[in-house]
Amino acid sequence: MNRSADARATPASAADSSLAALGEPADIAPPLLEVRALSHRYRLPRGVFGRRRPMDIQALNAVSLTLWRGDALCVVGESGSGKSTLARLIMGLLTSEAGEVHYAGTRIDHLEARQRQRYRRRMQMIFQDPYASLNPRLRIAQALEEPIHVHFPEASRQQVRERVEALMSDVGLDRGWGERYPHELSGGQRQRVAIARALSVSPELIVADEPLSALDLSVQAQVLNLLVDTQLARRLTYLFISHDLAVVEYLATHVAVLYRGTLCEVGPAAQIFGAPRHPYTRALLAARPRFDEAGAQGTAASTDTPADIAATVGCVYSHHCPLATPRCAREPPRLQALGDGHAVACHALDAGAVQRDAQAHPRP
Ligand SMILES: Nc1ncnc2c1ncn2[C@@H]1O[C@H](COP(=O)(O)OP(=O)(O)OP(=O)(O)O)[C@@H](O)[C@H]1O
Ligand SMILES: [Mg+2]
Repeated sequence: MNRSADARATPASAADSSLAALGEPADIAPPLLEVRALSHRYRLPRGVFGRRRPMDIQALNAVSLTLWRGDALCVVGESGSGKSTLARLIMGLLTSEAGEVHYAGTRIDHLEARQRQRYRRRMQMIFQDPYASLNPRLRIAQALEEPIHVHFPEASRQQVRERVEALMSDVGLDRGWGERYPHELSGGQRQRVAIARALSVSPELIVADEPLSALDLSVQAQVLNLLVDTQLARRLTYLFISHDLAVVEYLATHVAVLYRGTLCEVGPAAQIFGAPRHPYTRALLAARPRFDEAGAQGTAASTDTPADIAATVGCVYSHHCPLATPRCAREPPRLQALGDGHAVACHALDAGAVQRDAQAHPRP
C-alpha cells in the first residue's frame, strides 16, 4: 500500500523529483526544497579506531534531491548512511562542507542566523526521541505556547490559548493534559506533543528523523496515521527518515536510498518498491522479512570501517555488489535519469545488467 496517487495529485507535484536535480528544465514554481550536491565530513579526533591522526568521515557525498509541495520523500538506508546528517544540514543544524540548500527558490544554507530565522518557521523538525526534544520543566501547554510567542509575537494571550487548544485536539491530546509535564505522558503522547509543537507555527515542510522508532509497536501505527492525516489536512511536505520499510511504503510518495552518504537511487515510491534498479535498493528490499527473498542480491548490511570507506574511490557499494566490475571499483557512477522521476547511480545500468536482472527476478 502506498499513497503516491493522492499526495501527487496536483500538477506541480507531478513534476519529476530527480530530473530537476539533474538540470532538466521545469516551467513551474520552484520546488519547496532543493538540495544540490550536499556534502558533509565529520572529523574524528585521533585515538578513535586506534588511529594516530584525526580522521575525516565523509558522512554525505554530493547528494541532490528535490521535494515538491505535497511530496512525502522518505530517506532510507542502513545505520550510518548519512540520513540524519542530511536532515541536520537541511535544517541548518550543521553547516555543509559543500553544496547548496534552496527553499522555495531561495538559497538558505549560507544565510546568517537572523536571515535564516524567516525560514525557521516554515520548516520544522520532529526527532526520534520526543522526551529529549521537550523541556522537562515546561508544562505541555507552555511547550506549545513557546514557539507561537517566538514566531507570532503579536498574538494575544487569548489567541495563543485557543491555538494551543486546537492543536492539542488536532493531535488527539485531551485539553487537560496541557497542565501536565512531559514525564507524566507516555512515549506516544509525548510524540504527539512534539508533532503539535512543530505544527504550532504553521510550517510547510516537516523533516522527521525516525519519529516512530522510539515508540512501542502498538503506538507506532497511531502516530503514523496522525502524521499521514496531518499531512493531507494541512497540505504539508514531508522529508521522512525511517528504517522501517513498511512505514515507508505506507507514507512515501517518493523514496531516496542512501548508502555510505551517497544517493544510490531516488524515485516515485511505486517505482522503488515495484521495480528497484540499484543492487543496493534491491538488497535492502529483499531483506524485508515479509517479502520473498528470491530477488535478494548482494548484502544490505555492511561491516566496512570508516577507513575502508575513505579508501573507496569508485562506487561505494562495489565491495558488496554482485554485479560489480573493475570499472565500479575505479569510477563512481553518476546519477542517471530513467524518466518519471526515477534516477539510479549504477554502472551496471549502462550495461543493462540491472535491467536484465530485475526482469529475471520480478518483485511481487
Ligand atoms: N557527531 C559526529 N561525529 C563524528 N561522526 C559522526 C557524527 N555524527 C554522525 N557521524 C558519522 O557520520 C556517518 C553518518 O551518520 P548519520 O548519523 O547521519 O547516519 P544515519 O543514517 O542517520 O544513521 P542511523 O540510522 O544510525 O541514525 C556515520 O558514519 C556516523 O558514524
Ligand atoms: Mg540517524
